[in-house]
Amino acid sequence: MNSNNDFQNREFQKQLEQKVQKIEDILQGYLPKQKGYQSVIMEAMGYSLLAGGKRLRPMLMQETFRLYNGTSKALHPFIAAIEMIHTYSLVHDDLPAMDNDEYRRGRKTTHIVYGEDMGILAGDALLNYAFETAFRAFVIEPEDSLLIGRALAVLGEKAGIYGMIGGQVIDVKETGRKITKDVLDTIYRLKTAALIEAAMMIGAILGGASEEEVKKVEKIAEYVGVAFQVQDDILDVTSTSETLGKPVHSDEKNEKTTYVTLVGIEEAKQEVERLSREAVALLHQLPGENEFLEQLLTQLIHREK
Ligand code: IPE
Ligand code: IPE
Ligand code: MG
Ligand code: MG
Ligand code: MG
Repeated sequence: MNSNNDFQNREFQKQLEQKVQKIEDILQGYLPKQKGYQSVIMEAMGYSLLAGGKRLRPMLMQETFRLYNGTSKALHPFIAAIEMIHTYSLVHDDLPAMDNDEYRRGRKTTHIVYGEDMGILAGDALLNYAFETAFRAFVIEPEDSLLIGRALAVLGEKAGIYGMIGGQVIDVKETGRKITKDVLDTIYRLKTAALIEAAMMIGAILGGASEEEVKKVEKIAEYVGVAFQVQDDILDVTSTSETLGKPVHSDEKNEKTTYVTLVGIEEAKQEVERLSREAVALLHQLPGENEFLEQLLTQLIHREK
């Protein structure tokens, strides 16, 4: 039984690596060429984007798309766009005015290498280029214009003031203050879960899911996203910067209230497990089957980076 599990796990890791590599190729293909007097900005965009993150959001988008047996060529520009938006959020999150961190994805942060001015602009550039990239879907797959329009609306809203940016605003505003669990949950639902919701919802939309099913996918992704942020808080306390590729104890340095400070490590771990199981249970209610997606959600519970 155990060796069977080991075998399954190894198979999953192998598949995961191959899929990450394919996503890397897509990202590389959509990056702008370095040219013009402004070429430093294209360089800084590549520096942060290709630094080697886990590519969880593109992966979730692709695997939800596969759950619906999607075939639309509109998927690839959206895969690139969601990772560009996520990367921009990290570049800005690390700025001195925000979390003031010097390492990300195993290397110096963008603002340390290119200066704070270029750090801000590289974030802006990635955000704008994400939409430039997503809009290309209309040209690539014109007959899917309606689906592309729906996907763009989700991408815009989940990245904005009702989503990720909104969450970062509350996070920054409440730094150094005691907050309730309700406010903390709101921060996590917005700053982290919103982009994960966008990823899975866009995969479902482009795969041809009904409105009702997209709502269910949104709920699954909300559980996944909040669990992901709680685990991020845990790792900030229990891991090492070598493993994470970013500093540990960043939250303590910045006097952030986190799940760990609010309920303690043990309860935080239980919450990650509970939310992840909830997500998998809901996934079973959707039509279609994607064993890899289920394994991906399950392994996030025990992720070490
Ligand atoms: C980091 O996201 C920011 C959070 C929402 C916790 P990831 O842990 O997905 O970062 P990368 O993309 O792998 O670098
Ligand atoms: C940031 O949360 C989430 C974003 C929207 C960027 P954190 O500040 O905890 O993310 P890390 O730990 O720096 O990756
Ligand atoms: Mg932060
Ligand atoms: Mg941070
Ligand atoms: Mg963190």
